[in-house]
Amino acid sequence: MKCSVAFSLFALASAEIAVATILTGTSVTTSLSSFNLTKGAACACGRLSRTYDGIISPNSANYTVQAADAYWDVRADLSPACIFLPSTADEVSKALEIFQSCDAHFAVRGGGHMNYPGSNNIDGGVLLALEKFKDIKVKKGSVEVGPGLVWYDIYKALEPYGRAAIGGRLKTIGVPGLSLIGGFHYFNNKYGYAMDNVVGYDIVLGNGTQITVNKKSHPDLFWALKGGANNYGIVTKFTLKTYDIPKVSTTIQVFNESGIPDFLAAVCNAAKLDEKDPIAAGMVATVQYNATTKVATASLLGVQEGISQPPSQFANFSAIPSITQINNVTTMRQWASSLDTPKQMFRVMFSHKTMKPDHDALVSIYKAWKEAVDQIADVEGLYPTFVTNVASAGAARVALTNGVGNVWGLEAEPYILWQFSTGWALAQDDLRIEAWSRQLAERLHAINVEKGIASPFIYMGDAGEWQDPFAGFPAENVARMRTIKSSYDPLGVFSRLNWGGFKLSL
Ligand SMILES: Cc1cc2nc3c(=O)[nH]c(=O)nc-3n(C[C@H](O)[C@H](O)[C@H](O)COP(=O)(O)OP(=O)(O)OC[C@H]3O[C@@H](n4cnc5c(N)ncnc54)[C@H](O)[C@@H]3O)c2cc1C
Ligand SMILES: *[C@@H]1O[C@H](CO)[C@@H](O)[C@H](O)[C@H]1NC(C)=O
Ligand SMILES: *[C@@H]1O[C@H](CO)[C@@H](O)[C@H](O)[C@H]1NC(C)=O
Ligand SMILES: *[C@@H]1O[C@H](CO)[C@@H](O)[C@H](O)[C@H]1NC(C)=O
Ligand SMILES: *[C@@H]1O[C@H](CO)[C@@H](O)[C@H](O)[C@H]1NC(C)=O
Ligand SMILES: *[C@@H]1O[C@H](CO)[C@@H](O)[C@H](O)[C@H]1NC(C)=O
Ligand SMILES: *[C@@H]1O[C@H](CO)[C@@H](O)[C@H](O)[C@H]1NC(C)=O
Ligand SMILES: *[C@@H]1O[C@H](CO)[C@@H](O)[C@H](O)[C@H]1NC(C)=O
Repeated sequence: MKCSVAFSLFALASAEIAVATILTGTSVTTSLSSFNLTKGAACACGRLSRTYDGIISPNSANYTVQAADAYWDVRADLSPACIFLPSTADEVSKALEIFQSCDAHFAVRGGGHMNYPGSNNIDGGVLLALEKFKDIKVKKGSVEVGPGLVWYDIYKALEPYGRAAIGGRLKTIGVPGLSLIGGFHYFNNKYGYAMDNVVGYDIVLGNGTQITVNKKSHPDLFWALKGGANNYGIVTKFTLKTYDIPKVSTTIQVFNESGIPDFLAAVCNAAKLDEKDPIAAGMVATVQYNATTKVATASLLGVQEGISQPPSQFANFSAIPSITQINNVTTMRQWASSLDTPKQMFRVMFSHKTMKPDHDALVSIYKAWKEAVDQIADVEGLYPTFVTNVASAGAARVALTNGVGNVWGLEAEPYILWQFSTGWALAQDDLRIEAWSRQLAERLHAINVEKGIASPFIYMGDAGEWQDPFAGFPAENVARMRTIKSSYDPLGVFSRLNWGGFKLSL
């Protein structure tokens, strides 16, 4: 009996090699482009198809739904050789064994919002999409969530319990990507970043081994996963801390161009706010400029915990004459429900830098950006926004005092993360927009460096693909991340085979 099992395994293995050999180099045409099948992809797609039903190939009905429609940035649409939608950690483990033994290149997709072509999709390799991981279990003080969920799902599940988790600010951003890179939420100033609120990870390592990681079990990896992105393994479950926040007090405010300098002053003041007993409050603060109509507006989406209305933490904004001001007391679910970011919105380039909250310098950056937008006004479908995110001392203090920390190693100082998020329509403008956005950000950052108000910190969620967030982390943290990587991913599965995204260089 044993003998025949061994024999059939051997026969299967050699059949796979034969299939891979025959298919290798075959030119495959997809709805998006064409590629030559490599030996690794032929081997992995062959073995996955023999093991599981529902492997999506370029001629499957749902190929475009998975390879393109599931992405926010049109640039992220690529042509994988095949697509696997695992539904259990065992299946993820099996897939990783296959990738490793076939030496197959692969990409992993959670919510599909990272706008870095190749970070979450791949040409000619295997795409692993986690959308079937939708389990959610509300516990006392925590919630267990699958990486196929978006933040709205979490807020919805917690609403009946009057609890809140620290996740994304909008509706459809994915749980896994945001949790693994950091996580800007409205309540960071009091509770820290999303990553600081993950108390446990179920992760599959490159060799297929499944482990549970928390403060006690694999504490080194526990630390590295707090900001370490997709460098260590595939997370199949996150356990998040929850807080008693049944209601939130919200404000939506829109300002005309005259109000923008005061708007930016209020952003700087919000960053500097550092109270002993803080009220959790935060925002999405954006400036839009239409290069055709020459109209600039600023908008605030503000949320604070509790029911005091109007929300006290936004008083500096409320004092500015506005075009619109809508205050409400509602739930986190209700608030997030209207903040969708549609998939395939446009082609989009991010560029971002960090600075101390210096109002004059921030206004200069805004003005320089507006002038620079005028120079590219001819670009079809141009959609330019200037975004500011606040990193407060309070948010950093959570990691400094919780006995765990995170890879960012930020000190308890206020910062403004400023970003150009630029949308456009046509592939022919890709290189032009990247050059424009990058040069502008680097020139303005250089001025801040000279003034002594720049920080090297780069957030992966706001960065362009030309940026290196690891260069902005403390060098000793990066060294520690590398040591941890060499013990949990000695084969380099998450650098050699899963090479897209923000990777820790070896
Ligand atoms: C419109 C918009 C709004 C945003 N708002 C916010 C915000 O409010 N706060 C904030 O902090 N950020 C925000 N971001 C940035 C966002 O956090 C990142 O884009 C994040 O990567 C999105 O997570 P995802 O699961 O949707 O991403 P994906 O693109 O699916 O994944 C991102 C990266 O993580 C990897 N990955 C995904 N799942 C796993 C897993 N289970 N295990 C290991 N690796 C995995 C992927 O391979 C990829 O490299 C926003 C982005 C956009 C486009
Ligand atoms: C695939 O490989 C063959 C043989 O090397 C080559 O002739 C062909 O142009 C390649 N096709 C693509 C799409 O790269
Ligand atoms: C294709 O996707 C739809 C939903 O997007 C799903 O209902 C259907 O079962 C899928 N079909 C296949 C063959 O996977
Ligand atoms: C902006 O609104 C304020 C207050 O309503 C008004 O005084 C000002 O003229 C407006 N500025 C522009 C540029 O429209
Ligand atoms: C409002 O701005 C003032 C400075 O003008 C600052 O002292 C105060 O902390 C700010 N309040 C908030 C809630 O941001
Ligand atoms: C205000 O909140 C209530 C309660 O959640 C909700 O029904 C209503 O739609 C909200 N109004 C606005 C303008 O968002
Ligand atoms: C700018 O205004 C023009 C003319 O009203 C409009 O067609 C275009 O969609 C606007 N662009 C943005 C980014 O809103
Ligand atoms: C898988 O990798 C981990 C981390 O390097 C290691 O501890 C474990 O022994 C490996 N398992 C196997 C089966 O090789």
